[in-house]
Amino acid sequence: MSSAQEEVSTQNLHRGYVEIWHHSLLHIKSTGLLCAIGLGIPTAIQRCGGAATISDIITETGVDPAKLSYLRRLMRMLTISGIFATDQHDGSEPIYKLTSASRILVNDRDSTSYDLSSLPSILARPSTAISTFFCLETWFRDASATTLFETAHGVPGWSLTKNDASYNKDMNDSFAADSSIFMDVMLKEVGGTDIFGGLRSLVDVGGGHGGAAKAIARAFPDIKCSVLDLEQVISQAPSDGTVQFISGDMFESIPPADAVFLKLVLDSLGDDDCVKILRRCKTAIPTRDAGGKVIIVNFVLGHGEQDKIVLETQVLFDVSVIRYGGAEREEHEWKKIFLEAGFNDYKITPILGFLSIIEVFP
Ligand SMILES: C[S@@+](CC[C@H](N)C(=O)[O-])C[C@H]1O[C@@H](n2cnc3c(N)ncnc32)[C@H](O)[C@@H]1O
Repeated sequence: MSSAQEEVSTQNLHRGYVEIWHHSLLHIKSTGLLCAIGLGIPTAIQRCGGAATISDIITETGVDPAKLSYLRRLMRMLTISGIFATDQHDGSEPIYKLTSASRILVNDRDSTSYDLSSLPSILARPSTAISTFFCLETWFRDASATTLFETAHGVPGWSLTKNDASYNKDMNDSFAADSSIFMDVMLKEVGGTDIFGGLRSLVDVGGGHGGAAKAIARAFPDIKCSVLDLEQVISQAPSDGTVQFISGDMFESIPPADAVFLKLVLDSLGDDDCVKILRRCKTAIPTRDAGGKVIIVNFVLGHGEQDKIVLETQVLFDVSVIRYGGAEREEHEWKKIFLEAGFNDYKITPILGFLSIIEVFP
């Protein structure tokens, strides 16, 4: 081997060595984020006028003052990760500020701003998200295993919400928050008239506590909106009369409407189940000429911004839905499912550079 080759391979080794350390420690990012939300640090910084020292944060959050140096280290990690920012000059005490990420983690009941602080409690939930993946290797080797979730917890994914009230609540709260932010941005970014204009009725299937359906009903008061979800979800839904809640199983029946809306539902299902649900949707909606369509919100891999954070988040979520037997899909994979379910046209609109709206026409 020439000395030039040796030099390159040594450099590669350095990089590889750091990357293995980095990958192995990524759980500290999620658990550190959960801790910061649990302690109420974004809300504390907001309450201090948007800029706070470590002592201010201790006072506001009730952290044990003896842990000040540990909290400073947690804040340093979260600042380098982009969750917080600092104004720090020449070794002086840092002043922590909110970033675009932590601004939507402020949990302030009096505020009308966005609050996504419940989402990490589902995406990084120790008992149902993180621990499930401790079984991934066993599941890969086990030819008789059904879903990864069943291997880990002994029950199918969506039936655990029936047995675990706190999981059910966190699931419903986090997706209602996600939907209200997504829909608001979507309605501002693309207007929504092209997608929802002219509809007289819409059913949000697997719509949880109606975050999306309520936003659509408010923006388009002429659309009669309803939400179909499992009994354990609907029985806990806070109803303000904006939308009608219907309890049921989408595999058994989907109520008739001009449009069926499915946000973050089909990616929890395998291809055959997606085809089954879409065939049911097709019988629930009128023809294309009469305004019938299915509106799907999901990732379309390869669409949206192609930066590292977007791509990595999409494929991280793709691996995360393995637990239900689902998948994030590329356009050709979606197309195959649509054709098999009897649809013949579709249109993709990327939103937030991250998710996409797919209108599917019968
Ligand atoms: C990831 S959540 C998405 C919630 C909502 N669409 C949103 O994005 O805010 C998936 C939803 O599908 C519902 N779901 C799962 N299986 C279902 C079924 N067989 N029938 C009706 N709803 C179902 C779950 O209860 C849950 O509310």
